[in-house]
Amino acid sequence: MPILKPTLDNIKKAAELLRAGDLVVFPTETVYGLGANVFDERAVTKIFELKRRPYFDPLIVHVADIAMAEVAVFDERARALAKRFWPGPLTLILPKKPKVPDIVTSGLSSVAIRMPAHEVALALIKECGFPLAAPSANPFGQLSPTRAEHVLSYFGEKLFILEGGECQVGLESTILDLTEKEPVLLRPGGVPMEALKEVLGEIKIKRKPEKPKAPGQLKSHYAPRTPLKIWQKNLEIKGKKIGFLAFSKAPEGKYEAVRILTPSGDLREAAANLFKYLHELDQMGLDLILVEPVPEEGLGLAIMDRLRKAEAAF
Ligand code: TXA
Ligand code: MG
Repeated sequence: MPILKPTLDNIKKAAELLRAGDLVVFPTETVYGLGANVFDERAVTKIFELKRRPYFDPLIVHVADIAMAEVAVFDERARALAKRFWPGPLTLILPKKPKVPDIVTSGLSSVAIRMPAHEVALALIKECGFPLAAPSANPFGQLSPTRAEHVLSYFGEKLFILEGGECQVGLESTILDLTEKEPVLLRPGGVPMEALKEVLGEIKIKRKPEKPKAPGQLKSHYAPRTPLKIWQKNLEIKGKKIGFLAFSKAPEGKYEAVRILTPSGDLREAAANLFKYLHELDQMGLDLILVEPVPEEGLGLAIMDRLRKAEAAF
């Protein structure tokens, strides 16, 4: 199957496939997702098989309205966050209701849930009438897809891929665990910490990257096939063909290929371009991709999180 335009007809076809227990790739504002009917255990199993994803790594449940979000237990705090940030790149970890199958949550008593801010995703989920369990549409551990073509090059034509253009945020959602008294940031992402703090007030947001509860927090992840290193002064570099991913200005040295994340120094633009440029550099047969660090504020936190994990894969 080629990449399909998100016409009403194709959205209906995609919903039919999902109803029948098949998988469908759909766009979101963060990255493309590989979706299945959350209530269909066999369909959800197919996601793990196709991605070669370990079964202990739970999935995010995507909803199109608050009624669908009733698969989780909301308290006041969760409601306030959903009101402010949904639809949008914030995933909330909340106590789950029994109707969510264990395969979705890897047997945890909590469920990850978010409402994506992409009209194609919302139209598809509404057409289905059930939430979609969906991880990013890439083989486990590899770069997330921010264009339909990325998904096609990973999995070929066996999947039904709904076109949704380039993902506007370009980085996965922020994951916030609300199952404990204090909110815990499990993954920095599309909603910056600063914005969360506006709603959560003085509540301290702890980071527990070592927590086994969030396996997407595995130390190495989001990796291109080409070795990647974060640039620093006096770095010893092996290899001849080197690509450079710069923050806002072209580098001084000579490189085989150069990409600039954001000539205007805007971290949102940098986030939106990150995976796209990494995919491009990864296609060039380079020996090494060198990446300049970005300021760790706003979306810079999520960008550096992805880069450190990519670096740790080698
Ligand atoms: O932006 C996104 O979040 C994208 C799009 C498709 O929505 N999805 C995405 O899914 O990034 P995935 O599967 O690549 O990452 C989901 C993360 C995993 O790291 C998983 O460990 C964590 O969510 N997660 C899911 N359920 C959890 C739970 N109950 N407790 C803690 N972490 C959970
Ligand atoms: Mg992923």
